[in-house]
Amino acid sequence: MKIMIVVGARPNFMKAAPLIRAIQNCNGPTASALADRTERIQAVLVHTGQHYDEAMSGSFFTDLALPKPDLYLGVGSGSHAVQTGEIMRLFEQVILSERPEVVVVVGDVNSTLACALVASKVSYDGDGGRPVIAHVEAGLRSLDRSMPEEVNRVLTDHLSDLLFVTEESGVQNLLHEGISEERIHFAGNTMIDSLLASEEKADRSSILGRLGVHGNGNGANGNSAMKYALLTLHRPSNVDCRETFSNILSALDELMGAGPVFFSAHPRTRKRIAEFGLESHFDFGDRGGRNGIRILEPLGYLDFLCLMKHAAVVVTDSGGIQEETTCLGVPCVTVRENTERPVTVSKGTNVIAGTNPRKIREAIQMQMKRRGNGSVPEKWDGHAAERIIETLSTRIRKGQLESANK
Ligand code: UD1
Ligand code: UDP
Repeated sequence: MKIMIVVGARPNFMKAAPLIRAIQNCNGPTASALADRTERIQAVLVHTGQHYDEAMSGSFFTDLALPKPDLYLGVGSGSHAVQTGEIMRLFEQVILSERPEVVVVVGDVNSTLACALVASKVSYDGDGGRPVIAHVEAGLRSLDRSMPEEVNRVLTDHLSDLLFVTEESGVQNLLHEGISEERIHFAGNTMIDSLLASEEKADRSSILGRLGVHGNGNGANGNSAMKYALLTLHRPSNVDCRETFSNILSALDELMGAGPVFFSAHPRTRKRIAEFGLESHFDFGDRGGRNGIRILEPLGYLDFLCLMKHAAVVVTDSGGIQEETTCLGVPCVTVRENTERPVTVSKGTNVIAGTNPRKIREAIQMQMKRRGNGSVPEKWDGHAAERIIETLSTRIRKGQLESANK
């Protein structure tokens, strides 16, 4: 059985790596019990090239021990239509020549939707035969259609034959949208599989020393030997509008009293800082501006995990970081009006602050004093990818999962 796994942008790599490892484990000499129940699987890794910088793509292959992609489409950046269209054009050729039985797409980026859409319309023999489409991280909903990812999520889910869900809310959302129960699997969170598999390596990162801070030894929040805050911002709704971006930055002075603030700046955000003339808020290290938030290049996965684990508080608009902080028990302030990951609030360590500066300040104050680390959501146990590969393999072997138009 040939399973084609698609990655494109930074948050895809950590979601896909455990799937590749699960496939390798069920083929390899140290095969687990899973191997007895699955047929031999060939994994084909396709990288669309949506993200392409070493710091946004290449470094993750090393840190996550991902094999080199079998196929690299090199699409690069562009408007939504240009990027999505170019991925579709190139992926159609790939799929027709490789003819996988299954196409797995992860997350909610343009690469996710583009490849699901191609796989849903391709015809192998002119008779409508096409691969089964599996969506990993299905069912999440912010209910905010102004977010490009929400459009990608809804459409990808409705194109997919098999939907692997990370949290209970996802099951409810899909049922509510009329997707039949037998297509939905509450499998857990492969991003958390990566986190748990990488924690020991991340503990050996030298990032704390390089930044002149030190952690508390166990990663529990609040009482680090040297407190610092960690910041990431990259949502277009936050950084593409000067007024919103500047308002958010003005609220972050609340973090300053507590020690250094490190800002892993996404390329989109970095561009906007220059374009909007917001440099005075930042410390560029050797390049001047010693006051304020210390800007860092996007960090490698292991360095970032280490820095996140020892932070007193994380302020972010990232989707994945809301989940990772919940798993690590680190307080998180989400600078957005909503979240598609409600379990990080109901069970985890996340609060949704919105983008009003007063509300962000209040949320930061509250989270800095936070006691209790929340709890880790159901099935975020490091084994989601094994469950997914086993389900895929079993259902296809038994012929229970024919693609909808076969
Ligand atoms: C994309 C995803 C978003 C995800 C984010 C993760 C979509 C619609 N958005 O947003 O869901 O949260 O990735 O990081 O798919 N750039 C570089 N180098 C790179 C990649 C991008 O410089 O390697 C710059 C380019 O100027 C580009 C801009 O960043 O125009 C935005 O990249 P793009 O992939 O369009 O969207 P992201 O904001 O990264
Ligand atoms: N991440 C990283 N280095 C950084 C910032 C983030 O390795 O400097 C990781 C983070 O730990 C998580 C993923 O990137 O695993 C989240 O990606 P991002 O925030 O870009 O996208 P989103 O989750 O919002 O789609």
